[in-house]
Amino acid sequence: MKVLTVVGARPQFIKAAPVSRAVRRTHEEVLVHTGQHYDEEMSDVFFDELGIPEPDDNLGVGSDDHGAQTAEMLVGLEGKIAEEDPDAVLVYGDTNSTLAAAVAASKMDPALAHVEAGLRSYNREMPEEINRVLTDHAADLLFAPSARAVENLRAEGVAGAVHGTGDVMYDAVLWARDRAADHSTVLDDLGLAAGEYVLATVHRAANTDDPDRLAAILDALAEDSREVVLPAHPRTVERMEEYGIYDDAETRLTLTDPVGYLDFVRLQDCAEVVATDSGGVQKEAFFLDTPCVTMREETEWRETVEAGWNTLVGADGDAIRRNLATAEVAPDKPRPYGDGNAAATIAGLLDDV
Ligand code: UD1
Ligand code: UDP
Repeated sequence: MKVLTVVGARPQFIKAAPVSRAVRRTHEEVLVHTGQHYDEEMSDVFFDELGIPEPDDNLGVGSDDHGAQTAEMLVGLEGKIAEEDPDAVLVYGDTNSTLAAAVAASKMDPALAHVEAGLRSYNREMPEEINRVLTDHAADLLFAPSARAVENLRAEGVAGAVHGTGDVMYDAVLWARDRAADHSTVLDDLGLAAGEYVLATVHRAANTDDPDRLAAILDALAEDSREVVLPAHPRTVERMEEYGIYDDAETRLTLTDPVGYLDFVRLQDCAEVVATDSGGVQKEAFFLDTPCVTMREETEWRETVEAGWNTLVGADGDAIRRNLATAEVAPDKPRPYGDGNAAATIAGLLDDV
């Protein structure tokens, strides 16, 4: 059978890598990049290092407001699906690329398959929450990473077939952890000692597009007694410059460009604590046994909080400072996201199409 996979944003290249490897063992795959992310360090670097083929096509959509960006992707993807005539369209996560592909595919012949289905933050202010809910309700096949995600989908009465598959990001981390330990030189490059620094990321619109929240977060991070490394998303750099706080942040934090996946896995593996508003990073920290402080009010990855590995602190400076200082490894670690074989399970389930 023929599978058309749609990716566009950084976390989707990482999620697609193990699935593409598994899908290509038995199926034909056409990989389409929407062009949502386009900087070398937000896109190309991942294809080079994850051992997945270059995209067959890049729609080159780039950055824009939600409506214009999603609309341009929708038009381009409809054309691609008509041209390629696949049996299934495979989409990942909750970005505008996901939504555009879901809307295009669900009105055409191929089955729509959603990887990372059933996640809910229950915060309708997040564009990602809208994208994931709409995609789940359009999908024919829903691949849910946890038992809670399966329950969420059943509670909403989605029309498609729901499968608990485990989380493909766990597969990705298992593939990367030892490779990163063997090959990444990022600790030396940045002059970091394992276990003695904080790794931070910030890019969520609710944090970057609010000057008070962004300043509160950066201040709290800078006041930690340890070195704080922040590989900054281009959106965050733009906002810091716009608000006139870039120079201060650069002085007080170790600001870097975004790094490749193996380097980032290594940085998470060796950090004493991770501070983030990313979805994927919360989970990766958990997989890599590093405590996490999440600078959001809610999370769709609640299992990590319930297990004691992740704390929600919002953009409250005092809570960030306090929890960074006290975060520690939890005594036990459950395995709510499967056994690291989600990609093979998904490739097998695509046979049902
Ligand atoms: C998107 C996703 C978000 C995901 C994140 C992963 C949506 C609505 N949001 O957010 O769910 O967590 O990707 O990183 O789809 N930019 C560049 N170079 C790039 C890419 C972006 O400079 O290669 C800048 C542009 O100014 C752009 C801004 O970043 O306007 C935001 O990019 P966009 O793709 O719209 O959203 P993200 O914040 O990256
Ligand atoms: N990541 C990376 N380099 C970085 C920051 C993050 O490779 O400098 C990876 C990280 O390992 C994870 C993914 O990007 O797999 C998370 O993407 P992001 O935080 O952009 O998006 P989200 O998961 O919040 O949608």
